[in-house]
Amino acid sequence: MEKETIIRPSLLSFDFLHLDNDRQERISLGIGKCHFDVRDGHFVHDISFGEPLRRKRRAAYKDVSFDVHLRVTNPLDKALSFASLGIREITIHAEARTLGDLPKLASLKKEYPLLKRGLALSPETKAEEIKDFLPLFSSVLVMSVVPGKGGQSFLPGSEKKISALSIYRKEKGLSYQIGVDGGIDTVTGPLCLRNGADYLIAGSSYKKSQDKKKWLQERKKNASW
Ligand code: DX5
Ligand code: ZN
Repeated sequence: MEKETIIRPSLLSFDFLHLDNDRQERISLGIGKCHFDVRDGHFVHDISFGEPLRRKRRAAYKDVSFDVHLRVTNPLDKALSFASLGIREITIHAEARTLGDLPKLASLKKEYPLLKRGLALSPETKAEEIKDFLPLFSSVLVMSVVPGKGGQSFLPGSEKKISALSIYRKEKGLSYQIGVDGGIDTVTGPLCLRNGADYLIAGSSYKKSQDKKKWLQERKKNASW
């Protein structure tokens, strides 16, 4: 995996009124991938942004790819919609549909062979519950906060789920990547990486960091632990 995708800043933490400023900063920092949180006001309380933002900003963001995190009640519809807009990494929630629907989402691979398909697990969902579906997905996103708002604290024990997924991947010879989303900071980031995570979503800690270059360098250094 390219180094810059280990840390994926969340678009939610960007200044919505000055996305062009963020673009310049992002390019200078060499960030190749950002996290695009779609919230529908139903699966989670808030509404964030969706296809219109992607359409309008497509040209401005041609030098960055997005992983779209669908926190919506009908992820199949939205996954199709974002795939048709050129998004190449889409993560849906195991809790949004019955588990029987997961193969349908995974089958988007036929129509979009380059599409990476992610499965997100809210804190209440155990890794054992979705084991049978793991061969269908390119990544698993461990939510280390209750899906909802940015700025929450990392839920202690989330590292055990990361570790269980990492051990299972090795045992079964699977190749999914493990991402972590929520409450990532200078302490919890390295903890996740030590337990087998491959990439980290960073919202508040990225936004608050005065010296983003230093912040990213430290995270990358920690990634090789
Ligand atoms: C959490 C969202 C995140 C959010 C992370 O509910 O899915 O992607 O932007 O924000 P922080 O890093 O502040 O927890
Ligand atoms: Zn997210």
